[in-house]
Amino acid sequence: MAAAAHDSSGEGPKRAAMRIDVLTIFPDVVESYCDASVVGRARRAGILEVNVHDLRLATTDAHRSVDDAPFGGGAGMVLAPEPVFAAVEAVRPPRPLLLLSPGGRRFDQSLARELARAPFSLLCGRYEGVDQRIADHLVDGELSVGDYVLAGGELAALVVVESVARLVPGVLGNEESATDESFSSGLLEYPQYTRPAVFRSWEVPPVLRSGDHAAVARWRAAESLRRTIERRPDLLESRGGLSDAEVRLLCDHGYPLGAAESSGARRPGPSRGGAAPEERDRP
Ligand SMILES: C[S@@+](CC[C@H](N)C(=O)[O-])C[C@H]1O[C@@H](n2cnc3c(N)ncnc32)[C@H](O)[C@@H]1O
Repeated sequence: MAAAAHDSSGEGPKRAAMRIDVLTIFPDVVESYCDASVVGRARRAGILEVNVHDLRLATTDAHRSVDDAPFGGGAGMVLAPEPVFAAVEAVRPPRPLLLLSPGGRRFDQSLARELARAPFSLLCGRYEGVDQRIADHLVDGELSVGDYVLAGGELAALVVVESVARLVPGVLGNEESATDESFSSGLLEYPQYTRPAVFRSWEVPPVLRSGDHAAVARWRAAESLRRTIERRPDLLESRGGLSDAEVRLLCDHGYPLGAAESSGARRPGPSRGGAAPEERDRP
């Protein structure tokens, strides 16, 4: 039997701006998450098409089995090649087809941006993993969501679907929200606050209530740098450290000069051609 595609968007045949296909032995799990929140709204609005395919529907035996014992012995079962090849060949999902795997390329925001440019598909492994011939001859690449082992690729696929969906134009209500957050400029995002201005004696920084938009932008840029220095110096290092303007900005906002200067390699400041921090990576 051919693998089934479920698209619960309920919309007609109009073509969505972006398409992601997911192949899994747990289509209901993937389908139900993709029906909610940001992804669900985008599907209903016709901006995003998510097609979930059941790998078991491509099986031919009475038990609809998709796994078998590993050659050479060892614990657990392995996702067998026949049902997986059969499902992919029946569905012909958009390429690249990416296998979720702890040994794959590490998924991050820049890969999410890359994937958001064109349709692609995800194949969820299970058990002790997939027959190597699937990795060698069926898929176009492998993705890992981190250095830990999940029981299956479904959660990993959902991580990929949601983070890519957020980057598809029109999916987020406010177009700025995907460009002005952690990793969009190689830095962590600044802290956010909402009402009340004072909660249990903890006060929101006065600058955020000052109405001075330039001062707010400078404070946010400084906090973004401060946070990244303190929590993710590796991010700072890979963008080339701090510019002179950024060191000055941090000092203006009370960050100790010595600590700012010793944070990663220095990069050219605006006087040598770079953009001011508050201008960098704005749309
Ligand atoms: C229990 S894991 C298999 C782990 C495998 N035995 C190993 O040691 O690499 C079963 C499936 O979960 C998915 N998975 C587990 N951890 C993952 C991760 N960090 N990133 C992406 N997929 C993962 C993969 O699809 C994998 O085939």
